[in-house]
Amino acid sequence: MSSSNRVIIFDTTLRDGEQSPGASMTQDEKLRIAKLLEKMRVDVIEAGFAIASPGDFAGVKSVADHIKDSTVCSLARALDGDIDRAGEALKNANSGRIHTFIATSPIHMKYKLQMQPDQVVERAIYAVKRARNLMDDVEFSLEDASRTEFDFMCRIVEAAIDAGARTINIPDTVGYAVPEEFGATIGRLMNAVPNIDKAMISVHCHNDLGLAVANSLSAVNHGARQVECTINGLGERAGNASLEEIVMAIRTRADALNVTTNIDTKHIVPTSRLVSGVTGFPVQPNKAIVGANAFAHESGIHQDGVLKHRETYEIMTAQDVGWNDNKMVMGKHSGRAAFRARLEELGTSFANDVAFNDAFRRFKELADKKHEIFDEDLQALVSETGMETAENARFKLTSLQVTSQIGETPVAHVKLMKDDVEAAAESVGSGPVDAVFKAIEQVADSGTSLELYSVNAITSGTDSQGEVTVRLEKAGRIVNGLGADTDIIIASAKAYIHALNTLDSGAEKAHPQV
Ligand code: KIV
Ligand code: ZN
Repeated sequence: MSSSNRVIIFDTTLRDGEQSPGASMTQDEKLRIAKLLEKMRVDVIEAGFAIASPGDFAGVKSVADHIKDSTVCSLARALDGDIDRAGEALKNANSGRIHTFIATSPIHMKYKLQMQPDQVVERAIYAVKRARNLMDDVEFSLEDASRTEFDFMCRIVEAAIDAGARTINIPDTVGYAVPEEFGATIGRLMNAVPNIDKAMISVHCHNDLGLAVANSLSAVNHGARQVECTINGLGERAGNASLEEIVMAIRTRADALNVTTNIDTKHIVPTSRLVSGVTGFPVQPNKAIVGANAFAHESGIHQDGVLKHRETYEIMTAQDVGWNDNKMVMGKHSGRAAFRARLEELGTSFANDVAFNDAFRRFKELADKKHEIFDEDLQALVSETGMETAENARFKLTSLQVTSQIGETPVAHVKLMKDDVEAAAESVGSGPVDAVFKAIEQVADSGTSLELYSVNAITSGTDSQGEVTVRLEKAGRIVNGLGADTDIIIASAKAYIHALNTLDSGAEKAHPQV
């Protein structure tokens, strides 16, 4: 199978990406992201871990029900209940895949699974066969493969292929591998396993040492033909290999890597923004491909060179990956049809008229304050839909007033609805944002601690909206809240309220790897 030079792009933003603390997504958000991934022509979308919670099941099911062009996958431990639940969530998929896994390193088998190697092999065979009874497309992963003994790796890979796995995934679960060694392991595996030609070899690299993309590409050089990755490199701990970096390296250095993907790269930046908006994980400005500075030339020498001949300093174009030069897309006079059409381009459709009308009303309010509305503004606006404005939200901000003067302590007065009852509070703080959060807490009394507060300008110019991320923690649970407004104090209040509502609504769910 590896003789083909096409690399399958398997996106796990909705599963491994969602395992980042605070990055959980609603069913609706997952579907919005999945639609953009489908537009981008991602080959496989891992939509979640169906057994984890009713919400996860519904998320996988809704992606499976709506996505037609990409294969939709659910993760499942090598357990009956997991596999059956994955099969059930995927039953309407045009093309579905069950991805089952078990840990194979000595340390995981001994301490986590408390199983003997022979038992692990048996369980893997059993799981693959059970999944194959439900569907043809089955992937098997050896969790912690990069710390697995090579002979045992070969034994279990051969057994899983015999049992019917079509894809064998070799994860660097803890981000321990280095490129030469990881690539060589894939090369040795390809030579050592007699039935390897009956399966696609995949890799799934974590970024603990910042080597996830390098390790994945080294594996591709040695015969891997599926790469598991995420938008913005989101994922457990330091994240996974970033989809945009893998895809653009393969495209830009086709001469060195000799492989291709099927990805339509112009959807990369809009998808990156949507994922960042939905999860509340901002993209660092110097992030390759999707960071705000990725195509900005600050130094005079570089600018001069690029103006004379673009390729002096640019190896790919901003347009190739979907940067749109901050073009004004809408304004105060734009109507409902244009608003809906532009959002559909950006991957957002509305569940019902109430959600659409709410977003359109807030668009008009924004257009009154801000002359030019960019794609980034629209994305921030829809990321807010269903947050603090949602009908069933427990907390709603109804009024906010802050005074802040040189030499005086800032004071905030807030009014909010808590369980449909309006309450007012007043607080001082070390700054206006601190005062607002303290006033909100007087009413909410949430018992949370603030883990992160960050503000980003969505576009350039002093009339830009500020996008605020607030991360709250309570009893080990971490949630993110997002808020956007041309007034960053209001954006901060919205983000805080959003985080409180998320905390209030979230059901607990199981983690696949513990
Ligand atoms: O990192 C990992 O090993 C995983 C597997 C479940 C594929 O996410
Ligand atoms: Zn992982």
